[in-house]
Amino acid sequence: MKIIEAIDYQDMSKIAADYIIQKVNQSPKIKLGLATGGTPLGIYANIIADHQKNGTSYRDVMTFNLDEYVGLSGENPNSYRYYMDHNLFNQIDINKNNTFVPRGTTDNVLNECALYEDLLTKHNGIDLQILGIGANGHIGFNEPGTPFNTATHVVELTASTRQANARYFNSLEEVPTKALTMGIATIMKSKEILLLISGEQKKDALKRLLTENTIDERFPASVLKNHPYVTIIADKTAIAGLKVHS
Ligand code: PGA
Repeated sequence: MKIIEAIDYQDMSKIAADYIIQKVNQSPKIKLGLATGGTPLGIYANIIADHQKNGTSYRDVMTFNLDEYVGLSGENPNSYRYYMDHNLFNQIDINKNNTFVPRGTTDNVLNECALYEDLLTKHNGIDLQILGIGANGHIGFNEPGTPFNTATHVVELTASTRQANARYFNSLEEVPTKALTMGIATIMKSKEILLLISGEQKKDALKRLLTENTIDERFPASVLKNHPYVTIIADKTAIAGLKVHS
């Protein structure tokens, strides 16, 4: 795993966005794996600003999101489909038909998981996956204990994840209890991964990732050590006190 030290959140977002933009320019049909949450917002803002200023085109880009809450439709402002439309897709020239987020409102969530996995296989997988990390080491919604060989599946969200995400909802009770998520095996099939880590709350997760030698299902992000092409971009607050070799 290569690590790039950014000054702060803005710097981390700019470095990551510039990297993605360069990849899109090199490979206009790139398949991007996208994430939601607080971390990637700055990346998306930079991508939009670049699109407006320099005209980088996303016409032929395809995107696959990591996860979605069970029970929320794309019109629900807390759904990840809504987040992606509003924070990125509506402001660039991407073809919405080429943007995929698992559907949280389907009669058969298990079938939706299988369909999503098939879709990824059909398109020969993700070229570049953007990832955040939970304070407990989760990636996507793969909570500690998730077997490393899981494909896209339905998860019961942990209390700590629901608590962390409650800031977007009116109350904790409104936070869905289940989600659909790419599995760890799905994420590991991505050809390249960019892991973004920013802020005080993520400090311990980064420390565990860089200092513990074990690869353990109790700390899902540790699996990334088995991936051949991972770049971590972390800010100084998250890195604080750790010796890193960029
Ligand atoms: P955050 O979430 O970007 O909102 O901190 C990341 C995650 O939980 O994976």
